Amino acid sequence: MDLHTALGPLQLRNPLIMASGTFGYGWEFRDFLDYSRLGGVIAKTVTIRPRKGNPPPRTCETACGVLNSIGLPNGGIDEFLRVGLPYLSRLDTCRIASIAGETVDEFVEMARRISNQGGADAIEVNISCPNVKKGGMAFGADAPATEQVTRAVRAVCAVPVIVKLTPNVTSIGEIAAAAQAGGADIISAVNTFLGMAVSWPDARPMLGNIVGGLSGPAIKPLALRNVWEVARSVDIPVMGVGGIVTGADVLEFMTVGARAVQIGTASLVEPTAMERILSEMVAELDEHGFSSAEQALGRFKPSQGPSCCR
Ligand code: FUM
Repeated sequence: MDLHTALGPLQLRNPLIMASGTFGYGWEFRDFLDYSRLGGVIAKTVTIRPRKGNPPPRTCETACGVLNSIGLPNGGIDEFLRVGLPYLSRLDTCRIASIAGETVDEFVEMARRISNQGGADAIEVNISCPNVKKGGMAFGADAPATEQVTRAVRAVCAVPVIVKLTPNVTSIGEIAAAAQAGGADIISAVNTFLGMAVSWPDARPMLGNIVGGLSGPAIKPLALRNVWEVARSVDIPVMGVGGIVTGADVLEFMTVGARAVQIGTASLVEPTAMERILSEMVAELDEHGFSSAEQALGRFKPSQGPSCCR
């Protein structure tokens, strides 16, 4: 089975990429995963200064999903360049750094320094974190701000720029088009959906930050709809993310236009999930007579009416 896929200028061994925030900078999963079997990895988002993150509890399990209000804890860009990026750069897969700024200048400074140091094959611009007060999804909820930050980062980056979008907007297609207009090479869709959980007997929130982002299988149909809309709105490649836990899930996202997918929450509950999902994807493709992953891309035929098979 030919699993290779191209994500714009990035050539991937297969379409499965480990999502940011679910494996640190690589060493946390070194005993569980053979990185050379993955399409790529995206490091935990880094910020210009170290951050402690949000008050605990930071996660809460919900029906078919997880709420998180982590709040981008990390050691800041200096530590990332000293420790995180050198480790990441040794992994035998496509290595992607992730940045989040409170201002355009912060995004630019981090992108420039990562690009100049080398070791990352691409940079994901996280304009979609729902758990921070400044920056975060403020950029990704506004089309002109999305275009502005993308253009500024693109201008200082020697590697492909990926823009990660939030689904917490009215029209994600407009935001995706703004990212493309700013020069994005690739779109990631989508980050988590804003949600909350409460304990009714004592009428208190379950998360220290009260609200958080929902991920996991509960959001898969929502993410799939967003990815379809994004894929119809831009000409650049799209990475699908949101609730993928099986090989069939991957192929659903590819069918509606994602050239690759990110796996996140599945790895938190099952550290070897990516290898299982890859095997399932190969078995699914084989069973349905496909000889390559790319044959599954963009085949969606809504004009032919609903399916009668599952
Ligand atoms: O809160 C967090 O650290 C999550 C970041 C994100 O969803 O981008």
